[in-house]
Amino acid sequence: MKRGKLFVQGLYLLLLWSNDPIVAWAAEAFIGTYGINYGRIADNIPSPDEVVTLLRAAKIRNVRIYDADHSVLKAFSGTGLDLVVGLPNGNLKDVNASEDHALDWVKENVQSFLPDTRIRGIAVGNEVLGGSNELWSVLLGAVKNVYNAVKKLQLDDVVQITTAHSSAVFANSYPPSSCKFNDNVDQYMKPLLAFFHEIGSPFCLNAYPFLAYLSDPGNIDVNYALFQKTQGIYDEKNDIHYDNMLDAIIDAAYVALEDAGFKKMEVIVTETGWASKGDSNEAAATVDNARTYNYNLRKRLALRKGTPLRPKYALKAYIFALFNENQKPGPTSERNYGLFKPDGSISYEIGFPALKSSSATSLRVSLKVIQARACFGSNFAVHVASTVILILFSRF
Ligand SMILES: *[C@@H]1O[C@H](CO)[C@@H](O)[C@H](O)[C@H]1NC(C)=O
Repeated sequence: MKRGKLFVQGLYLLLLWSNDPIVAWAAEAFIGTYGINYGRIADNIPSPDEVVTLLRAAKIRNVRIYDADHSVLKAFSGTGLDLVVGLPNGNLKDVNASEDHALDWVKENVQSFLPDTRIRGIAVGNEVLGGSNELWSVLLGAVKNVYNAVKKLQLDDVVQITTAHSSAVFANSYPPSSCKFNDNVDQYMKPLLAFFHEIGSPFCLNAYPFLAYLSDPGNIDVNYALFQKTQGIYDEKNDIHYDNMLDAIIDAAYVALEDAGFKKMEVIVTETGWASKGDSNEAAATVDNARTYNYNLRKRLALRKGTPLRPKYALKAYIFALFNENQKPGPTSERNYGLFKPDGSISYEIGFPALKSSSATSLRVSLKVIQARACFGSNFAVHVASTVILILFSRF
């Protein structure tokens, strides 16, 4: 989008699913169960101010970004949106090596925006232990230095420190009861988990049934990956039946955590999603499948239920992602995870059967009305996972 100004033309609110009140508040980065990742590796997505309008109208309150871009942090000021910022992998060595640099980073990218911008977490590095091994030895030092900086600035009650893992950290995740951490990451993972246990942080997992399915389409029923009706799998050792793959992936993580000695650590899904377009070897990346996954995922999260193995931890997930990112490298699927198109319209309907696009133009609501209605007070969180809108944008 070049110099386009964005106006919201139509707004539809539909109340769906449950309205359970939210209980936890302090020192937890993720309130509610449904969040979104706001990736920005694109040259055609709306400005941060426009994104705020979109998120508020869609009542998505929990947001993650992959850096601490100041234009985003400014745009989120005063909005009530809860934000997790990222300390990029490229900064890890420096932040490991110097407490002062960690302190400077937190002052400059977090403290100076608080409290108006509700930064609730710092993700230190992304998918480090599942990736190339050059950063494995600096991750824990970086995490500790960032945590100590946050503590020194007396922000540790507000800002939670985490790091997200890909499923490459696991070995044998099928059946879930046999899952363990990979031998090669074990010596780094255990001390990291011990530290997160000490500071009360959860285990953050990027979980993609889409990728698991792609890796073995001959043996996996796509309906199982899409939360559709299927016979599911039976995990004999734990006597548990799984009717969808996401629950099974998360329980596999719980098994690995228990095996490593951290039975009580909560698992939060920091990324999950389904690509709507892919290369010829990514046949499952279709609009239909993406819609089905995201629709059913939304319903799954709205249940506020745990997994079979940990029923008391209501499943929390950040969807990947807000927009298609046209400048991401890799297979075509990587650029096609977005729920919204670059112009701000929704890519595909995810859960609003009563809503027809033909009715979309019948209601005209001004931006002012939207702002008035998008209440971000204490009642807001109650409706986070249960309301949704369709908004249309036009450019001038
Ligand atoms: C990480 O930090 C520690 C403590 O300052 C230091 O001893 C170590 O050399 C650092 N590692 C790297 C790769 O910089």
